Amino acid sequence: MIKLENIHKTYVLDNHQKVEALKGIDLNINKGEIFGVIGLSGAGKSTLIRLINMLETPTEGRVIIDGEDITDYKEVKLRKVRKSIGMIFQQFNLLSSKTVFENVAFPLELDNTYSKEEIENRVTELLTMVGLEDKAEVYPAQLSGGQKQRVGIARALATNPKILLCDEATSALDPKTTSSILKLLCELRDKLSLTIVIITHQLEVIKECCDRVAVIDGGLISEMGNTMDLFANPQKDLTKRLVSAVVRKDLNDLLEYTKLEPEYFEGGKAWFELLFKGDKATDPVLVEVATLLNLKISIMGGQINHIQNEPLGIMVVAVEGSKQMIEKAFEEFQKRVYKVKLVGYAE
Ligand SMILES: Nc1ncnc2c1ncn2[C@@H]1O[C@H](COP(=O)(O)OP(=O)(O)OP(=O)(O)O)[C@@H](O)[C@H]1O
Ligand SMILES: [Mg+2]
Repeated sequence: MIKLENIHKTYVLDNHQKVEALKGIDLNINKGEIFGVIGLSGAGKSTLIRLINMLETPTEGRVIIDGEDITDYKEVKLRKVRKSIGMIFQQFNLLSSKTVFENVAFPLELDNTYSKEEIENRVTELLTMVGLEDKAEVYPAQLSGGQKQRVGIARALATNPKILLCDEATSALDPKTTSSILKLLCELRDKLSLTIVIITHQLEVIKECCDRVAVIDGGLISEMGNTMDLFANPQKDLTKRLVSAVVRKDLNDLLEYTKLEPEYFEGGKAWFELLFKGDKATDPVLVEVATLLNLKISIMGGQINHIQNEPLGIMVVAVEGSKQMIEKAFEEFQKRVYKVKLVGYAE
C-alpha cells in the first residue's frame, strides 16, 4: 500500500546550512497493516510520515502509494491522492470556531462533490463511528483531549481514505485515553480495511496495536520487524534501550543490584533474568530446575507485558549454590525459557 524507495530528505535552512533529516529510507507497508515508526526526538519521524502524503517532497527517492508513483505529482493530482490519505495530529488541529459537525464536514465541503444531504449523512455516520454522535453541535473547546482526537479521526476519515497517518496522535493524552484511541484505530482498521501508520516516541503505543515496527535513528531505519520479535529480541542498542524501559519498567530498580565480577564468584547467589514468551507457564520451570538440581530459587520480581494481546513475561530469580551449580542452572533454564540472562552475582 505504501512504498518508500531510497528516500532522502535534506532541509536547507535560511543560513544555507543543510539538515539531512532522512538518509535513505526503504519501506514497504502492507494493506491493512498497522505500522509503527518509533524513534527519538529529531530522528526524522515526522518528516517520514509527511512524505507519505507529500506534505514534504523527497530530495531523492520515490513515494509509491497503492502502486501509483506520486513523487512528481503536482497540486491537482496530489489533491486527489491526498483524499485517499487521512492524517491526525498530536494537537488535533481542529478549527475552534466551528462545531464538531462543521469540523468533520469541512473536508467534504472543500471537495465540492457532495450534496448537503450527503454531507449530513456522512458526518452523522462518522460521528457515530467514533462514539461522538451526541457532540455534533459542541465546539472543540468544550471537549476533552480524547474527544478532540475522535473528532480528528472522524474528519480524517471523511473522504473515505485507504490510509490513515497518525503523527504522535496520542502523545497529548493520558494512558487510559491513549488506550481507548488505539482501540478505536484497531476497530476502524478492521471495519474499513484501513492501512494505518503510527508515528510515536512511546513504545507503549507500539506495544498495544502495531503489527510491525520500524525504529528510526538519525534518518535511517535501524531495525524493523514484527512487534513481538522487536520486544522479545531487540538487536540494536537503541531498540534494546527503548524496549527495556517498557518491558523492565517494574524491574529496573531491582536490576541495579550490585554486581560481582564473575571471576571472583566461587559460590553464593546468582541472579537470572528469565524471559517467557506466549503462554508458557513460569512456575513449572522454577520448580523443575530447583528439583532437578536440588537448588534454592527465590523470585525477586516479575513483570508481564501484553504485546498485541500476547504475553511477554520477565522474571528475575535468585539461585543459590556453587559456581558449578549456577552454570548448570543456566543451562537448564536455557532449555525451558525463551531467553535467560545472568544479571548479577552476590557472595
Ligand atoms: N521544515 C524544516 N526545516 C528545517 N529542518 C527541519 C524541518 N523539519 C524538520 N527538520 C529537521 O529534520 C530533523 C528531523 O525532524 P523531524 O521533525 O522529522 O523529527 P521527529 O522524529 O519527528 O522528532 P520529534 O519526535 O521531536 O517530533 C531534525 O533535525 C529537524 O530539526
Ligand atoms: Mg515529530
